[in-house]
Amino acid sequence: MSQHSAKRIEQLIGAMTVEEKIGQLNMLTANLAVTGPVMPGDYMGPLKAGKLGSMFNLYGVDLTRQVQRVAVEETRLGIPLFFGYDVIHGHRTVFPIPLAEAAAFDPALWERSARIAAIESAAEGLMLVFAPMLDVSRDPRWGRISESAGEDTWLTERLAEAKVRGFQGPDLTAPDSVATTAKHLAAYGAVLAGRDYAQTEVSERAFHETYLPPFKAAIEAGCPALMPAFTDLEGVPMTANRAVLHDLVRGEWGFDGIYISDYNAIAELVAHGVAADIADAAALALKAGIDVDMMASAYTNGLPIALERGTVTMADLDAAVRRVLAFKARLGLFEDPYREKAPQLTAGQRAEFREAARDAARRSMVLLSNRGGVLPITQAPRRIAVLGPLADNATEMLGPWSGAGRGEEMVSFLDGLRKTWPQSEIKYARGVDIDSEDLSGIPAAFELARQSDLVILCVGEARQMSGEAGCRARPGLPGKQAALADAVLDTGKPVVALLTCGRPLAVSWLFERAGAVLVTWYLGSEAGNAVGDVLSGRWNPSARLPVSWPVDVGQIPVFYSRLPTGRPFAANIRYTSKYLDIPNEPLFPFGHGLSYTRFKVSNLRAGPAELRRGGAVTIDVDVANDGKVAGEETVLLFVRDPVATLSRPVLELKGMAKITLGPGERGSVRLKLTTDDLSFIGTDLEPRLESGTFEIFVGPSAKKEDLLQTTIRLLAS
Ligand code: NOJ
Repeated sequence: MSQHSAKRIEQLIGAMTVEEKIGQLNMLTANLAVTGPVMPGDYMGPLKAGKLGSMFNLYGVDLTRQVQRVAVEETRLGIPLFFGYDVIHGHRTVFPIPLAEAAAFDPALWERSARIAAIESAAEGLMLVFAPMLDVSRDPRWGRISESAGEDTWLTERLAEAKVRGFQGPDLTAPDSVATTAKHLAAYGAVLAGRDYAQTEVSERAFHETYLPPFKAAIEAGCPALMPAFTDLEGVPMTANRAVLHDLVRGEWGFDGIYISDYNAIAELVAHGVAADIADAAALALKAGIDVDMMASAYTNGLPIALERGTVTMADLDAAVRRVLAFKARLGLFEDPYREKAPQLTAGQRAEFREAARDAARRSMVLLSNRGGVLPITQAPRRIAVLGPLADNATEMLGPWSGAGRGEEMVSFLDGLRKTWPQSEIKYARGVDIDSEDLSGIPAAFELARQSDLVILCVGEARQMSGEAGCRARPGLPGKQAALADAVLDTGKPVVALLTCGRPLAVSWLFERAGAVLVTWYLGSEAGNAVGDVLSGRWNPSARLPVSWPVDVGQIPVFYSRLPTGRPFAANIRYTSKYLDIPNEPLFPFGHGLSYTRFKVSNLRAGPAELRRGGAVTIDVDVANDGKVAGEETVLLFVRDPVATLSRPVLELKGMAKITLGPGERGSVRLKLTTDDLSFIGTDLEPRLESGTFEIFVGPSAKKEDLLQTTIRLLAS
């Protein structure tokens, strides 16, 4: 921060009343109405009185500037507000949900979609986004797995960096930059049994090794705001967790940004049972380091009492105010409160953004099964039946966090397929609703299927079944969709199933019967066009699962990076680790995803064979496209430490590389491994590097049988 800014901040703090100081920490929603952004009058009172420091759920430059004008011109000290919003997978142009985008295994794509979302949100007066969401998540019952990058820490770290770069660009004061808020610190994804807001049961080492690293990666990439999770860690709610928020993240990591509480989370410290009243809750949160109170009014109502009680001091309050004002200075708001040069988007740019959304969408769909090569459909049959409750449903394509997206601007599957195959006779029947008991539409859908040469069956979840509070104990097909699928499959016609969902669905039966299954997740603005690209073969699917796909709900949590057991699975030995009724392994492993061509990875070379602390290994493999069409292959790099002072995971992702090859073409990819990649968190919670042999695996997925393997030796001392 410049000396000038620092001086101005101290002057302001010196001039502020206690109410005004607390006001800077108060963030309120503008309750954006469905009909458009509205500004309920009751926020004007606190705003004019200097009792409001920031707002969210308010966008549109006319509106943000109008409100900013009140802050700047009608309050005693004229301190500008900042405006935040949940821009999770696009703003006006809607991109695939994060879990889908993660499937692209492509930092450049993650960065690009964030850049576009930043330009669109900055164009509407926003200065901050409540993104990226960085909760490693291994439980498909949890609705928020859809907002995450899935089960892997390393992949989430890479997504964190790319998103921060994309949203912010190089300069936070730039008119097309929006600041990021990495959330939710941390281990929210570990909620027991996948039920939102429930307790977590996480070892300290897992907390440090699995859940925290993406936040560190975001901070190192320049993320200036963090949002603590609603949940607790060993009985201490994160909103009151001084050890993590203050001692570790601020103290040891050197984070110098702000903490924004989650919605009403400070007040909820009372319900958590760690605060007796709102003043107690406010004191705990402030002491822990929370600077901004989102929607609890706990600081407004509780801090004056806490000051009186002596549970917080004026110095505590000043420290938080100083951080909030420094944040505003960092965004350049004192110089340019109205973001005068906010981007004004042209029709050409909007079209370009939609094209990027289409590209992101086709790169995010995972081809899970393709029995007998039903796909691609290069010669469209004469009669195609497009069936199911998600077929003609543009609004559902928005996914769980729709930003400023509009349902009517999404391309439905039906529309996209009609454009893809204009010569075919495409007929549509809904069959059943997404979630009702009504079977009456099934006969008509069955009849249509019977009269067609090909069926595209569009089934899955409603968007509200994912995201916050969108948990499902049984993540399968809701309502009577299974009955519809059964009826259609009984016709014996070739069936391509499109799964619209925010999580892996336990529908093993569908994979046994359908010709092909493509998980489309929620693809956003260009859903139908992108699906047309993939089904027709205009795009060869390249995405991979960022999360293991369970055989059955009973396996959850099932993830690849597990610790070895002393009694590994052996089919014919009873006392080994297994279920009597279902397999241990997921139906599809992490990294699974089919292509229309066949790639072969061979000739693994790693060197040097012996490594010292601070050194690096270079890993090369050859990749051949042995099929008939061009395609993009993703090569994953895993490591394993087979003997260490602590039991280490059977595989850990440490690298990825992509290569595009024409039919019959060969090439090679290079990956790198540093000794940091081989270290782990010891029992003292410090990183450890231990001498010994390390196994290196390279290949398409976390299925060990499909991986090439070699070893290197590390001399750590
Ligand atoms: C609650 C969610 O947990 C959080 O992710 C979001 O940013 C806030 N609500 C604001 O909408």
